[in-house]
Amino acid sequence: MKIGILTSGGDCPGINATIRGVGRTAILHYNMEVVGIRKGFSGLLENDYTIMDEVALSGLLYKGGTILGTSREKPFRKRLFSDEDLPRKLKQHYDDLGLDCLVAIGGNGTMKTAAKMRALGINVVGIPKTIDNDIWGTEVTFGFDTAVATATECIDRLHTTAESHRRVMVVEVMGHKAGWIALHSGMAGGAHVILIPELGYNPDKVIEAINRRMNKGKLHSIVVVAEGVKSLGGEKERPAFYLSKYIEEHSDLVCRETVLGHIQRGGSPTAADRNLATLLGGYATELISNRIFGVMVAVVNGQMTHLPLEEVAGKLKTVREDNPLVIQGKKLGISFGTED
Ligand code: F6P
Repeated sequence: MKIGILTSGGDCPGINATIRGVGRTAILHYNMEVVGIRKGFSGLLENDYTIMDEVALSGLLYKGGTILGTSREKPFRKRLFSDEDLPRKLKQHYDDLGLDCLVAIGGNGTMKTAAKMRALGINVVGIPKTIDNDIWGTEVTFGFDTAVATATECIDRLHTTAESHRRVMVVEVMGHKAGWIALHSGMAGGAHVILIPELGYNPDKVIEAINRRMNKGKLHSIVVVAEGVKSLGGEKERPAFYLSKYIEEHSDLVCRETVLGHIQRGGSPTAADRNLATLLGGYATELISNRIFGVMVAVVNGQMTHLPLEEVAGKLKTVREDNPLVIQGKKLGISFGTED
């Protein structure tokens, strides 16, 4: 068999380990040929690819980013200024390459595209990746553990300077519309307030929580805010800046804000992410060898499994109110900026 691999959407730690997991299993165990398609779906549209052999697949386990490059190209998106039939082009180039299957490593957008490709008759297997951990159908995505570890280390560092200056540090973390990174890094980093989009928040409750700490003699506070949290009042500014300004305007507290940004996405994957990526890559290749297509590989109850792409496409996995970390956080007196 001949398979293509592409990586699409925002990069994350562990993609290269997945490429290695797919590629080496394909070549060494199933005797398949492997083609790497550059820059996500753009590469397939432009016929930009490279043949991957064992040498090309070496040294990838610990490397962040994606050696194939990525893009946010959505070939099925309606275009205002062009009537070029990109889906047809995609299918044509897939056929020209003589592929038996395309492995699409990506996030929610990629799974949507993969489902549409499947409907066009392209054999495709999706592998979920994102630091946001928001892909429906899988318990965890690689990249998340690394992002949480990085964010936690940053929060640790902010504690000491916050303490020295008796300040409130408002730290904004990534996560798109979900609060997974904020919840996990906030809890691991000992944040005093954690704000996630799923729960909503009231800025006055944040001030109350910080003042409660002040009254007990705890003179510094760490507020972790997910980027997807709304800047209340419809402000265009980032939630960390909105909140920081609001706190200073409505209290005597002194705030500083930090937006961690792409620091969370770069660098080497953790051991857990490397192993998850390797397992998912191997499992995806096994499915292909059994001619099981049109699915996304996933972790359910800690086991590798797969789900139909059309079942996954367009859904989002968000944090539930009964998440054990939310429940335990409240027991510890951590504020989520809500009424209770
Ligand atoms: O989906 C991953 C992610 O890092 C989100 O957390 C973030 O909102 C977005 O990508 C940033 O995208 P870009 O790198 O295109 O600015």
